[in-house]
Amino acid sequence: MNIVDIILDKRYGRELSDEQIAFFVNGVTNKTIPDYQISALLMAIVLNGMNEREMTTLTISMADSGIKNDLSYVGGIAVDKHSTGGVGDKITPIVLPLCRTFGVNSVKLSGRGLGFTGGTVDKFASITGFNIDVPKEDFPRLVNDVGMVISGQTPDLAPADKVLYALRDVTGTVDSIPLIASSIMSKKIAGGAGAIVLDVTCGSGAFMKEVDRAKELAVAMIKIGNLARRRTVAVITDMDQPLGLTCGNIIEMHEVYEVLNGRGTSDVIEVASNIGAWMVKLAGKNGALEGESLVNECKARIMDGRVLNEYIKLIKSQGGVIGSNGEPVYQDECNMVYEVKASQTGYIGAIAADVIGHASVQLGSGRIKKDDEIDFGAGISFEKKRGDAVIEGETICKLYLGSKTKLVDKTETIKRVEQMVLSAYKISSSKPDEVCAVIDILGV
Ligand code: URA
Repeated sequence: MNIVDIILDKRYGRELSDEQIAFFVNGVTNKTIPDYQISALLMAIVLNGMNEREMTTLTISMADSGIKNDLSYVGGIAVDKHSTGGVGDKITPIVLPLCRTFGVNSVKLSGRGLGFTGGTVDKFASITGFNIDVPKEDFPRLVNDVGMVISGQTPDLAPADKVLYALRDVTGTVDSIPLIASSIMSKKIAGGAGAIVLDVTCGSGAFMKEVDRAKELAVAMIKIGNLARRRTVAVITDMDQPLGLTCGNIIEMHEVYEVLNGRGTSDVIEVASNIGAWMVKLAGKNGALEGESLVNECKARIMDGRVLNEYIKLIKSQGGVIGSNGEPVYQDECNMVYEVKASQTGYIGAIAADVIGHASVQLGSGRIKKDDEIDFGAGISFEKKRGDAVIEGETICKLYLGSKTKLVDKTETIKRVEQMVLSAYKISSSKPDEVCAVIDILGV
């Protein structure tokens, strides 16, 4: 078999055989195919697509390219969740303990933030003492003790995806449904998931800007999941404005604490309850509760302190420090340094979540390069969200920096971020239509 023929087949729109796809993934993993040929095939896939069988074979070959986790110690069906990315996405720290209240154990391998979307691992790392690099040998003990473990992803999981993702990032080949779907699903399958709940985000802060495209991606992942015998459900969620009231690391973990004390915003509660309900259902731990009543039970548990109890157990089990007020202690402070004021009177029509995400990264909350150090205290809080009325000069956002900020040009950066935030907020003369945080649920 030869890689040039495979590239030509895809270039002319022909279906690739299972053997051709396996040959390609092997060559990627063993580094016997050079980057330029890998990139050429990636571009041909972007342009000519892949059918369900090709996507599934690509996914399974990528999942098989490294070690596969055996999560049998979790007990029952190991349900995993995955978000296709967003700004202000603080759902994982809520749903893991939520699922635990129903007796569902979880092993969650999460990513660090890169680009404008935040990483769950960085958010947990902002808690003093919290260990996010848990050795695999300790997973069963933690699951046995508290029913949950969260850790950074290890490089031996789907290594072919690491090579492909790095090349896609620099060859204009990220935005492709077969490539995104196989990248995500290969990691879930290699991670040991028996069932998968996908949070497929949609809007300015997501890969998929339109609902139809988000649904197309969701359907592709559901088909792959089902062909790979993993029951898969996709919750399509709104990312046309940041989720909740904050983006950053400490500031988002503080918001999680607020949510679990009954002070959360409806969008966060809605998304977390729907994702959690489906995880509980796929794990078979929903008892007599179904549909709306299961979602409502999830909401009640988030609001009444039951999820908070489990959350605190999770934090303590991985070394996190809890203060005398019951809240986790964070690695730094969030110092409010600037209030961004509305430039006109009207209603908030939209908040470009991607621009907000980039603005937060400029303050230091995320990485521009892989090895950048994060300022855990940096971030943005939203005083006004879509649909809110605003008067010219009123505060729409607050900007925060940690006490260990590395910014050398603080004033300049804050001015630049102010302009970015102002450009992200679209103020209109009429109140926009309401958009539900959960747009649709597929694969049920
Ligand atoms: N997340 C992934 O893991 N892979 C993609 O291709 C896109 C989002």
